[in-house]
Amino acid sequence: MKWFPTVASEWALQWEYHNLYLHFWIAFFTVVIFLGVFWFAVKYRRRSEDEQPRPILGSNIAEIVWTLVPLLIAMSMFAWGAALYFEYASPPENAIEVYITGKQWMWYAQHPEGQREINELHVPVGRPIKLTMTSEDVIHSFFVPVFRLKRDVIPGRYTTIWFTATKAGRYHLFCAEYCGAQHSRMGGWVYVMEPAAYEEWLSGGAAGSMAAQGEKLFAQFGCASCHLSGQQGRCPNLTNVFGNRVELSGGATVVADATYIRESILNPAAKVVAGFQNIMPSFQGQVSEQNLLQLIAFIRSLSSAGSLGVPAGEAGGIGQRPPATPARVDRRTQGRPRQP
Ligand code: CUA
Repeated sequence: MKWFPTVASEWALQWEYHNLYLHFWIAFFTVVIFLGVFWFAVKYRRRSEDEQPRPILGSNIAEIVWTLVPLLIAMSMFAWGAALYFEYASPPENAIEVYITGKQWMWYAQHPEGQREINELHVPVGRPIKLTMTSEDVIHSFFVPVFRLKRDVIPGRYTTIWFTATKAGRYHLFCAEYCGAQHSRMGGWVYVMEPAAYEEWLSGGAAGSMAAQGEKLFAQFGCASCHLSGQQGRCPNLTNVFGNRVELSGGATVVADATYIRESILNPAAKVVAGFQNIMPSFQGQVSEQNLLQLIAFIRSLSSAGSLGVPAGEAGGIGQRPPATPARVDRRTQGRPRQP
């Protein structure tokens, strides 16, 4: 007997068990309450016109029991749910990253190695995958039912989710937020591949890594002349900025994560680095979200502390961890012997 709809991620089973637990208590109390109603209705029905019930003046024991028992049950739902939520919001450090951009009415994906996809997402089985997502226009929602994975994709913001696929195959991908006339067609397929097949797919012709593409844009937009020239004084040098704390004029500090870099490109006046004047033009409306992600990938590649792209959860929100991991790890070979 099949208990659940197809389950293809580790998270999906946990989600199902927690969901079952909630439904167990819902069913339990539905039965208890309805049986109680009928039982009391029959047992204490009025038997004659002048029958008067004996008044009940309360019971401390009953009050305590029917307060404490539901409280404990509710807290068990909360504690389990919260534990799952925190796990959902905290991608493991060794997760494979993929960048997703929603745009009426398509899903674009780009892998750090450079491969791009439209309405498709290729991932290996058995490895944690972290998606960093944003939207070029309106709110979309990235939804893969077999993974029990859904998260809104919001313009002007990075959101992340992660999952570990457990079964190779091809699975439906949907947009789960009404986003205009073609919303119902905004979807595609997630291909979960055996690791060897994934490696092969990944090595198939990309126009340079995301960081390399970002480097081109960096030159093209004229950023390089100021930000990499080493002539500190006009612009902050961007070497080793990503993932580290930056002091701002005004005394505050901020961790230079993807959200901060993105804001600084689009609205340079928002958070000016201590000791600098804002002489940078705004690039609002001139750089697509996909290009922003490539620029961020490049700036990240300049830093040895850049392992943390976007804090988990909504940018800057829950699950944020300090950028603790040193140097970028070559995740292709991580945990496996290097090929000769
Ligand atoms: Cu995008 Cu609905």
